[in-house]
Amino acid sequence: MDDEIFSKYLKTESVFKDQQSLNQAWVPNNKQKLLCRQNELKKLLLIHRPIITTRGEFSTNTLVLGKGGIGKTLTVRYFGKKFREVALKDDIKLTVEYYDCLQHRTKSSILRHISERLHYSAGHGYSDNEIMEQILKELIKRKESLLIILDEVHKIPPDDILALLNASIGFGEQNTRFCIICISRESDWYKVDNEKISSRIQEVIRMQPYNKKESFEILQYRRNLAFRDGVLEDSVLDLIADIVYEQKNMRTGIDILRSCGLHADEHLLSSITSDMVLQSRESISPSFRADILDSLSFHEQLTLWAIASTLKHTGNPFTKVDESYEFYKMICEELGYKAHVEMSFRKYIRNLASVKAIFKEYLNPTAEKKGRQIQVKLIDIPPEKICEYFEKRIPSKEL
Ligand SMILES: Nc1ncnc2c1ncn2[C@@H]1O[C@H](COP(=O)(O)OP(=O)(O)OP(=O)(O)O)[C@@H](O)[C@H]1O
Ligand SMILES: [Mg+2]
Repeated sequence: MDDEIFSKYLKTESVFKDQQSLNQAWVPNNKQKLLCRQNELKKLLLIHRPIITTRGEFSTNTLVLGKGGIGKTLTVRYFGKKFREVALKDDIKLTVEYYDCLQHRTKSSILRHISERLHYSAGHGYSDNEIMEQILKELIKRKESLLIILDEVHKIPPDDILALLNASIGFGEQNTRFCIICISRESDWYKVDNEKISSRIQEVIRMQPYNKKESFEILQYRRNLAFRDGVLEDSVLDLIADIVYEQKNMRTGIDILRSCGLHADEHLLSSITSDMVLQSRESISPSFRADILDSLSFHEQLTLWAIASTLKHTGNPFTKVDESYEFYKMICEELGYKAHVEMSFRKYIRNLASVKAIFKEYLNPTAEKKGRQIQVKLIDIPPEKICEYFEKRIPSKEL
């Protein structure tokens, strides 16, 4: 970009007052609030109140369920933050740790992280069970409580979930100080749930999507935080609330706010119109989660890009592994990266399917092709959109 563009855009005022408040990681600060989730906050508080009343000698496992984009992550993170503040005021030592299980996919990874967080190193020689025992003993010794939030918990294998849930009851300790809040969409939870796991969950909170009035109220609040006065009128906001209500997904609404703001800034406009909202809705798919794409490893990203390119090229809804591997090698070559072998490529496909970036199914063996063949497709996202996403983000290697 040359100097002219730099100075032009840096001189003009942005429609945003606080663009960061539209990030996925936003949690209300002390001057802000969480709207429309008072009931859920109250339930979480009553469930965990004994941590304060028993001065920490308390343990419980809770599960928060609900559809995508309805504020599960936000509500639980906010609760964790507020609850810790209240406990500290009462001189109760409480550590709250949030884990996105897309990033921490095993109990080992979580346990090792906790022991680091508690500032003692478990060392390499210990088994998971030993580390768990050390953590529980350490908490008792220090009179400290631990509340861990396992978001997208279905990404952890069921046996690992069970072992973590057992921690509070399985070690024969009287005064365990370890609580867990698991979060999952209902449609994901059923894949890992079993009788043993559900018997270790004391409380289940089911969250419902927002109604029209709540959707509008929340969007209004987020607009006031993010935009300058007058940028986005109530009448236009009402249209976004309709879309949120229709899709039962607040994430779509927040994505529309962000994308319209960026569009206005790019075209040096001072307000957001209904047309811009309708246009941005077209390009926002409720299940398109950029944070999932960003959490993939580099070659997983290249693999996904290759699958999308194949589908874009052939116009078919499905592709087979060997077909998309050819595209993968082409992309690698074009950008100057060394392609990995097909076996690794297959592993990346498995990982992509497990984070639900793609859908994978087995075909029955045919006379020509013996053995199980796999075909893959994208979930709800047009291949053009994936290609565009990576074209913008993955640069060619400096040669
Ligand atoms: N009550 C609320 N007030 C303000 N913003 C909200 C509220 N509920 C949800 N949001 C916003 O909507 C978006 C989606 O919320 P969140 O990520 O918590 O959904 P989720 O239920 O965890 O979805 P998923 O199952 O896909 O992880 C976020 O940007 C969040 O900030
Ligand atoms: Mg979430």
